Amino acid sequence: MATVTMGKAPLPGFPVTYSKKGRRDHAPKRHETSRRQLPIYSARSAIVDAIRCSPTVVIVGETGSGKTTQIPQYLFEEGLAHQKAIAVTQPRRVAAVSLARRVSEEVGTPLGRKVGYTVRFDDKSSNATRIKYLTDGMLIRELLSDKLLSRYNCVILDEAHERTLRTDILFGMLKDIQKQRQQMAAAAMDPSLLVEQSATTPPRVRELKIVVMSATLDAERFSAYFNHAQILYIAGRQYPVRIFNTLEPQSDYLDAAMITTLQIHTEEPPGDILLFLAGQEDIESLERLLNGSRDKFGPDALDLQVCPLYAALPPAQQAQAFAPAPSGSRKVILATNIAETSITLPGIRYVVDTGVHKVRGYNSKIGIESLLVSPVSKSSARQRTGRAGREAPGFCYRLYTEPSFDKLEEDSVPEILRCNLAAAVLQLKAAGVNDVLGFDYMDRPPKLALLRALEQLYALGALNDQGNLTDLGKWMAEFPLDPCYSKVLYQSQVFQCTSEVIDVIALLSVDTLFFSPMDKRDQAAEAHKKFVSTEGDHLTYLNLQKAYLETQGSHVWCHENFINHRGMKYVQDVRKQLRRVCSRVKVDPNTSCGVDVDKVLQCFVTGFFHHTALLQPDGNYKSVIGSQIVYIHPSSSMFGKRHEAIIYNELVFTSRLFIRGVSAIQANWIPESAPGYLNRMVDRQ
Ligand code: CDP
Ligand code: MG
Repeated sequence: MATVTMGKAPLPGFPVTYSKKGRRDHAPKRHETSRRQLPIYSARSAIVDAIRCSPTVVIVGETGSGKTTQIPQYLFEEGLAHQKAIAVTQPRRVAAVSLARRVSEEVGTPLGRKVGYTVRFDDKSSNATRIKYLTDGMLIRELLSDKLLSRYNCVILDEAHERTLRTDILFGMLKDIQKQRQQMAAAAMDPSLLVEQSATTPPRVRELKIVVMSATLDAERFSAYFNHAQILYIAGRQYPVRIFNTLEPQSDYLDAAMITTLQIHTEEPPGDILLFLAGQEDIESLERLLNGSRDKFGPDALDLQVCPLYAALPPAQQAQAFAPAPSGSRKVILATNIAETSITLPGIRYVVDTGVHKVRGYNSKIGIESLLVSPVSKSSARQRTGRAGREAPGFCYRLYTEPSFDKLEEDSVPEILRCNLAAAVLQLKAAGVNDVLGFDYMDRPPKLALLRALEQLYALGALNDQGNLTDLGKWMAEFPLDPCYSKVLYQSQVFQCTSEVIDVIALLSVDTLFFSPMDKRDQAAEAHKKFVSTEGDHLTYLNLQKAYLETQGSHVWCHENFINHRGMKYVQDVRKQLRRVCSRVKVDPNTSCGVDVDKVLQCFVTGFFHHTALLQPDGNYKSVIGSQIVYIHPSSSMFGKRHEAIIYNELVFTSRLFIRGVSAIQANWIPESAPGYLNRMVDRQ
């Protein structure tokens, strides 16, 4: 029998027995050698010391240096997750899941135990979890039930350079929590925030450590915002990369990308190619094109292995992009901006940059969040270039001219300055930020615009007299829409017309669904006539959608009827997205009012009472709020018609104050829609 020392000296005569088999505390650690080879490893103690000594630290390091996978582990190994956990936020759901998977493998425990993740509708974490990867939206959710984030010692805000609305909300909230926790712990008001006392050590404040991580060099701004936090620059291994620009602008970037890839493949020395494209569709078509040209390389040439890489690709197929190319072949990875900073690929020597990406954008018409193809920023283009020089000197082919590069934005504009402000304020309120005007924004929207957004939310019934979120407001915050539309969608349950309302909102997201070429004006007008409703554009659109679905969205039908086919396809995407969210919040998207289409318009007035106008004796229309003369746009089916009251979707300032998306309504629907608000507004006039 053996005696075992367990912290204290064994008492004589009381040996401790143990089972014969024994058990390791951890499974053997994998990847230990590769962990030590990462550039960040040499900075390990500097990072840990900095975080120990200061409340907030900003860390900047090249993509692939090891920030996201290693820093949480260093803190964990050094006891900074003692009794509590470390949160690592990610803007992308896929990244949170794949990083947690990788790190749990490195730590050597099953996913969901020491290392886990929480994303919406999927939670692989437990009380034992010490390193938790989660989307920024999920951390905001946790904040609602745990206002001081007392389960965390440390929050790492990763990919901070992306400046999503949620990251910006978290910045302000965490800064405030950090201050509160400092004050409370100092005053020992909340014992759970103190490290347990012992006779020899005085209680220490359990602060909230904040670590801001970014792959780009905009660290000073983050540091200034976080009370001049210390900045650590992690030296990456970056070899020089030669950049080539095209001499002429390329009209078809897919075509240019294919030619460039084939040119590199047939003329340049070995090394893998990373090609940045906008999205899955581009990737799939280029994959087909490149695979189709493989037999043209001649018997002596290297083979070309084409690997797609985008968020929705199943993990097994993603793995192909990480594996080395089989001997005698060269790999070309067709990737979205996921390979820009959140994922690192080995073996790349050539980068081909199309200069475009899909970003979460806002459809300015209905405020819906959707992915839009747009030019990258200079900082993204530089990140892409850098991917060619991680292991050796490399080459980057930009499929745009040098002057076009010069014209790109320096950085992408923070989401809070791009999106619909009422929607952003609604998100802030839903995150528990009551004082929206006093909130500590990193980029502050203008005060007047904030006030207007608050007023609008109040009028819609999303906020009560005290400015607090109502149940309706909470419901509206679930929708990625301009709040006016979420309100209409909510009311559609009362009017029993959810199906129609979803369709109309989706249809309103596109500018011109009906087109009329100059030389075929009459023909087009004739074709459009059969859709026109005497009640206006909303119902005209609904007729169009019905007919479109009956013909199963045929291209020929659209062409014959002078309908914008691509626009209609986009409408169907938005429609699908809205139906999905409805189902998620338990609203039946199939509830229909059948032929009683008046209900649809009545329902729209509840969200657009501020977009109504009354007919004047002289035949003009005057807006109910603001008392301005507005003119019906010639493209509207209501053009030239007179009706006691109208509702409109948007106001466009061109030569005149034009209104579009116009329908006839009954004047008495207006006061019913937002009584208190309208009285106040009319009193002010
Ligand atoms: O965050 P940062 O870009 O600095 O690097 P990281 O994501 O921590 O990645 C460090 C290393 O881990 C890279 O060289 C990746 O190749 C590797 N890694 C991996 O093999 N699989 C993952 N799912 C994530 C990272
Ligand atoms: Mg990272």
